[in-house]
Amino acid sequence: KSCCLVGAPVQTGASQPGCIMGPAAFRTAGLGATLTSLGWSVEDRGDVSMALEDVSPHPNAAIHHLAETVGWITALTKAAYDAANACDVPVFMGGDHSLSAGTVAGVAKRSKDHERPLFLLWLDAHPDLHTLESTDSGNLHGTPVAYLTGQPGFEAFPGLEAPLDPRNICMMGLRSVDDAERDRIAELGIDVHDMRAIDENGVKAPLVAFLDRVRAANGDLHVSFDVDFLDPSIAPAVGTTVPGGATFREAHLIMELLHDSGLVTSLDLVELNPFLDERGRTARLMTDLAASLFGRRVLDRMTGSY
Ligand code: ARG
Ligand code: MN
Ligand code: MN
Ligand code: MN
Repeated sequence: KSCCLVGAPVQTGASQPGCIMGPAAFRTAGLGATLTSLGWSVEDRGDVSMALEDVSPHPNAAIHHLAETVGWITALTKAAYDAANACDVPVFMGGDHSLSAGTVAGVAKRSKDHERPLFLLWLDAHPDLHTLESTDSGNLHGTPVAYLTGQPGFEAFPGLEAPLDPRNICMMGLRSVDDAERDRIAELGIDVHDMRAIDENGVKAPLVAFLDRVRAANGDLHVSFDVDFLDPSIAPAVGTTVPGGATFREAHLIMELLHDSGLVTSLDLVELNPFLDERGRTARLMTDLAASLFGRRVLDRMTGSY
């Protein structure tokens, strides 16, 4: 099995600078060598570069860096499509979460070529479901899921070749949701498991139910992992920390269940801001979590059926 690493040093979607260093931190933490040690053939395809798009200013004056971010999304859509055709599992090293508007659009196009539905597991404190009209902060990392599901108002973004069916999205870890996003979650019928639900039910039952749906549909599965899904006490290197996040053990269990399922076809590791880290601990934790997803286990045996 092959995987490829794609660097997406995007920070124009976030309020604080620093995510530009994310891909370098993942390389420094040894992500490539870690996956190689697990038996994967790994190709590092380097960092994607952005070409500025000619985008006119949006009527919502709060929006920051629209032209640069659209430039990244355009470049990443193509890079993700190419990477998905070049290896079994591309891993996109961010970069802020606006990059997923490109990576998911790119892998969705490839799934469409193969006539397979694309499913999306969104691990995040936030649903990132704002449109360009509804965002108050104007930070475009708060918008990718609305774009990817084909919501109106994204004329400034590249045209989507394969919009996602919102019913194929599962979100886990939510604990900071704006009013417009709350309405949109209900309207679109997204499968959402906020931290309250995780406290009550754990992570295993809802994840297994979602994975069963992916398998039954013979679907591809993209996992988009925002650092702020994790509790800030274990993952401080993110600009949008929210208390009460997933624990070390919950996060590793999710990764292990994803590995056992054999269903994951692409992965984003996003919002790592190394400028905010403590001696590399968040970069190392994210690398260890990726290792669990790619097959690292405590005992060298299958755990049986999940
Ligand atoms: N909902 C807030 C906003 O739109 C926070 C978004 C945080 N998104 C992220 N990818 N960290 O500004
Ligand atoms: Mn996010
Ligand atoms: Mn987030
Ligand atoms: Mn569910």
